[in-house]
Amino acid sequence: MRVLVNERGAARLLGRHLWVFRRDVLSGPEEAGLFPVYWGKRFLAWALYNPQSDLTVRAFRFRPTADPVEALLENLDRALKKRLPHLEADPEGGYRLVHAEGDLLPGLVVDTYAGHGVVQVTARALEPLLPRIAQALRPHLKSLLARNDARLRGLEGLPLEVRPLFGRVPEHVVVQEGRVRYGVDLYAGQKTGAFLDQRENRLYMERFTGERALDVFSYHGSFALHLALGFKEVVAVDSSEEALKQAQENARLNGLHPRIRTLRANAFDFLREEEKAGNSYDLIVLDPPAFAKKKGDLERAYRAYKEVNLRALKLLKTGGILATASCSHHLTEPLFYQMLQEAAQDAHRLLDLLHRGGQGFDHPVLLNVPETQYLKFAVFEIVG
Ligand SMILES: C[S@@+](CC[C@H](N)C(=O)[O-])C[C@H]1O[C@@H](n2cnc3c(N)ncnc32)[C@H](O)[C@@H]1O
Repeated sequence: MRVLVNERGAARLLGRHLWVFRRDVLSGPEEAGLFPVYWGKRFLAWALYNPQSDLTVRAFRFRPTADPVEALLENLDRALKKRLPHLEADPEGGYRLVHAEGDLLPGLVVDTYAGHGVVQVTARALEPLLPRIAQALRPHLKSLLARNDARLRGLEGLPLEVRPLFGRVPEHVVVQEGRVRYGVDLYAGQKTGAFLDQRENRLYMERFTGERALDVFSYHGSFALHLALGFKEVVAVDSSEEALKQAQENARLNGLHPRIRTLRANAFDFLREEEKAGNSYDLIVLDPPAFAKKKGDLERAYRAYKEVNLRALKLLKTGGILATASCSHHLTEPLFYQMLQEAAQDAHRLLDLLHRGGQGFDHPVLLNVPETQYLKFAVFEIVG
C-alpha cells in the first residue's frame, strides 16, 4: 500500500519539506498509518499518513526502508542523543526531548521536567506506536505522562485524554533554571506545563539590573523570577489567574516574593493605563501568545504585536531595555523586525539591537520547513 501525490506534492517532498496537504494527494489507503509516498513510480519518502486530516502526509524519512517503525525510533534516538549531555549536566532542568517536525518526528512532543516526562501525540498514525515510544524513553525518565488533551488531536480524529504511561507521575514538579526554580503542574499547565522554548532567553535576561522591571504575558512569572535577581521591583502581568497563582508560589520558592508583584489584567488595557498614569520602567519583557494562529489572522495580529510594542516603548526610560518576542511562525522574522521598526518610529524612540535570539537548541529548526522556526526574541536598548 502506498500514497500517490501529484507533481506539486512531489515538489514539496523533493524540496525536503515534510508536509503534503490533502489537495495534492491523488490516492492512498483508507486508514491512517505509516506508508511510502510515491510520485508515479518514483519513491519520495516514508510518512505518517492520515486521510482524515487536511495535513495528510507528514514525512519522516527520505530513504526507502524495510522497517518504518525502526526508522521512526532511529529519529527518536537521534533526538535524545542531542539532549542527553544537557540532561546529564542539568538533571533538575526542563528540556524538550522531542520537537515534532524539528526532530523528524511529526506529531510527537516530549518534554522533561526534572526527569519527569510529558508526551503529546497529535498524529493519528503515531498513536498505536505510543507504547514503543514510551519504552524507548523509559531509560531516560523517572515517569511519563500522556498529556493528550491538545485540541489539535480533534482534527486528527483522536480522543482527548490525560494518563500516566509509566512511573509515579507527580502532580507538581520543581524545575531548576539557572539561578531560579519554578513549579510545574504536569496535568494542567499550559502547553505541557511550561514554555521551555524561552529558557535560554530567560537566562539571557539575568544580566540586567535596575530599579523597576515589567514582565508582560508573564505566565508563571517566568521572566520575572530571573529579573528579580537584578531588579528591586518586578511587576508580572498575565490574564490567567491560575498562571499568576503559580507565579506567586514561584516567587516564594525563590525567596523573591518581596520583589515580585503579580497583576491580573489584559495586557493591552494595562499598558494603556500605565501610560495614562505616567508610570515608567527600566526594563520590559513582552512575550505574547501567538496572535496569528493561522495565515488569515496575520494582518490583525501584526497590528496587535505593534500595539503592545509601541505601548511598552512609551513606558521605557531612555537607557531602558525592551525584550520582545513573537511565537507565531506566520509573523516571519523579517515581518517581526519590520513591525518593531514601525513601533519604534511611531513611539519616537531609537533602538539599539543588543541581542537577536529565538527558540532554544532543544526546539530545532529545519531550514526547509519554515514552520519549525517560530520563536523570535529581540533585546533592545532605548538610546534616544
Ligand atoms: C507565550 S505565554 C508567556 C510565556 C512566559 N513568558 C514564559 O516564559 O513562560 C503567553 C501568556 O500570555 C497570557 N495572555 C494571553 N492573552 C493575554 C492578554 N490579553 N493579556 C495578558 N495576558 C495574556 C497567557 O495566559 C500566557 O500565560
